Amino acid sequence: MLAHVHNTTLWYDDVGPADGTPLLCIHGFPHDHRLWEPQRDALSKHYRVITPDLRGFGASGTNGPYSMDQFADDLAALLTQLGIPRAVICGLSMGGYVALAFWRRHARHVRALIFADTKATADDDATRTKRQQLIQVAMHAGASAVADSQVTGMVGATTRADHPELVEHVRDMLAAAPVEGIVGALEAMMVRPDSTALLPTIGVPALCIVGDQDVISPVKDMRAMCAAIPHGELRVIDDAGHVSNVEQPDAFNEAVAQFVARL
Ligand code: MLT
Repeated sequence: MLAHVHNTTLWYDDVGPADGTPLLCIHGFPHDHRLWEPQRDALSKHYRVITPDLRGFGASGTNGPYSMDQFADDLAALLTQLGIPRAVICGLSMGGYVALAFWRRHARHVRALIFADTKATADDDATRTKRQQLIQVAMHAGASAVADSQVTGMVGATTRADHPELVEHVRDMLAAAPVEGIVGALEAMMVRPDSTALLPTIGVPALCIVGDQDVISPVKDMRAMCAAIPHGELRVIDDAGHVSNVEQPDAFNEAVAQFVARL
């Protein structure tokens, strides 16, 4: 389905019972809504699962501006159009950065937060340099080259050894990202603020989920992030890397379902 929000169009999927607790799932970089297929299929039996493509990704419009705040504003407008006053906001990695911006700007629409394989800190200089290099790769060699450079870090060692088909699946998704979206999101992530001081203000239940083999958002960093959230609880998923929801969907879904059922 397509929604017109602000100056662009957002593609989104909306499945599950209309009166189920709404769960808005925000994909990471450079993903699209397909990241959440294992959650959409399982969790929509009980919950209303909304999986949009952020602007610049999937079938959404690619026009800017790009920022974590803009992504959050787009999603708040989408919820309003869908008649949803409050939702559980779930973001993985860059989606978690968007979830933090959503809390900063639209807290009244937040029933609870789920942060998966993400971080509250801003980029350091080394990360900004890597992002500049990736922008050059995207502009000169395209999304497929970006996918090749990113996919190994996206999944854990267990998935790489035992599930090459999942690695290929993730790579295909990364390779489909529009170059405008890749560049826009990289530039936006480089200037996103440090949200560490925001964490103690989170006054709703929060679940932090991380794969034990995540090398991009390691367990120790997510443990510290979660400890700074007043009602934060941490779930570490065994044998999973950065896309823990794809690598170990049953464990991820169980953690989410148990959390949402208690709200
Ligand atoms: C993601 O999966 O969204 C990215 O790893 C986020 C990032 O590059 O910081």
